[in-house]
Amino acid sequence: MRIGVLTGGGDCPGLNAVIRAVVRKGVSVYGHEFVGFRDGWRGPIDGLTSPLGVQEVRGILPRGGTILGSSRTNPFKMDGGVEKIEANLKDLGIDALIAIGGEDTLGVATKLHEHGVHVVGVPKTIDNDLNATDFTFGFDTAVNVAMEAIDRLHTTAESHHRALIVEVMGRHAGWIALHAGMAGGANVILIPEVPFDIEKVCEYVESRFESHYSPILVVSEGATPAEGTMVLADGELDSFGHVRLGGIGMVLEKEIEKRTGKEARTTVLGHIQRGGTPTARDRWLATRFGLHAIDAVNDGDWGTMVALRGTEIDRVPLGDATTVLKLVDPHLYAEAEVFFG
Ligand code: F6P
Repeated sequence: MRIGVLTGGGDCPGLNAVIRAVVRKGVSVYGHEFVGFRDGWRGPIDGLTSPLGVQEVRGILPRGGTILGSSRTNPFKMDGGVEKIEANLKDLGIDALIAIGGEDTLGVATKLHEHGVHVVGVPKTIDNDLNATDFTFGFDTAVNVAMEAIDRLHTTAESHHRALIVEVMGRHAGWIALHAGMAGGANVILIPEVPFDIEKVCEYVESRFESHYSPILVVSEGATPAEGTMVLADGELDSFGHVRLGGIGMVLEKEIEKRTGKEARTTVLGHIQRGGTPTARDRWLATRFGLHAIDAVNDGDWGTMVALRGTEIDRVPLGDATTVLKLVDPHLYAEAEVFFG
């Protein structure tokens, strides 16, 4: 078979490990051929390809980012996008596609499968919010980056008697904030799933100062105040209709200073969480996803996605991963609340 591979959406550590595993097993065990599509769905839409053989994947296991490039292009939002993909796949003699991506990229893969395109999905996102898989790769690296930042912020917070706010990624789900906040000993964790009450947050801040420690607050970029308690500015939309986030940390900083009279400072970790080399766990998970994705292609199991269930890699229908997001369960958040204040 001649198989196209693409990586779409926000990049994340481990993408290259998937590509490497797919190509290595695909060539050596099954004798398939590969074509790399550039920049997410833009590649098959515009016929942008790059060679993808064993030589091209040498040495990429520890490398962050993606050798194929990525974008947030949505073929269903442009005139003739799907027809262009179908025509290019035919012209290039592509029998099947492996799409490595999150909610948006795999949402497109799901619809293309319904159009008859032979596609298998691999779940990625640092946010860990894809349903039907216990974990996505990239998440562990992001959590470790955020935890290290929190560890460092503790000492400077203590020296200056300040409240330090760490804004982490997490558009709809607070998994990074919850895991990194717990691992880093945060005094407040705010996540999108649980709208926060600014008065309660300030109480936590004050009680922490009373015990002669400086509070560390970890906030997901998608966290929002409970209705009617604070006003937030609107942001721009991308081609999947998502608002560009970032800024809740600064909003909290001002409110905390105003309401408590204590000094506060914000660190926005942003893309640092997505860049750089993957952790061992993410390399392991990404590699196993790649090995199982090429098995699914070889079996002609179209419209499926590889998923981690316990310690096993299963195949699930692509639609299961993209119809609902996996949000933080309230009982997990409640566990962390023991350490607030
Ligand atoms: O890929 C998911 C994610 O990292 C989100 O956590 C974040 O909101 C978004 O991507 C940022 O996207 P971009 O890099 O396109 O600004």
